[in-house]
Amino acid sequence: MQAIDLSKIDKILAGHQAEPGSLIPILQEVQLEYGYLPEEAIDYIADGLKISASKIYGVLTFYAQFHTQPQGKNLLRVCCGTACHVQGGEQILDHIKANLQLNANETTEDGKFTLQEVACLGCCGLAPVLVLNDEVHAKLTNEKIEEIINNAR
Ligand code: FES
Repeated sequence: MQAIDLSKIDKILAGHQAEPGSLIPILQEVQLEYGYLPEEAIDYIADGLKISASKIYGVLTFYAQFHTQPQGKNLLRVCCGTACHVQGGEQILDHIKANLQLNANETTEDGKFTLQEVACLGCCGLAPVLVLNDEVHAKLTNEKIEEIINNAR
């Protein structure tokens, strides 16, 4: 992995007076800077705030907005809520995994897709549903999945 420029984190920490109470905005800004939160950035933030890295990981696992792996160009969020499940959501998810050859929370090797399983997206009447970036795709079938993926490639 290419080393990251940690001096950017110094500036972010300085902007928050290295205040542990500002951990979440600091993580948001660092993620904005690098696109995700690399392990070495987390260790560096922990040193800067004089807190343990495990405390930061605890926060990261609690908030879905944070990513510790690089994200793909396209974010595919597949609904695993009850209504979607009943309408074949699991089979849709399996089809996507097979098509992209990855599991949930992984990114394809070409960096084009990240797959996430999410709870109800709030449009159960359109089940099964996925969101590609900000675009909702409804009443999914295997054919629609292939079209969506091919168009996004
Ligand atoms: S359960 Fe999938 S949108 Fe609600």
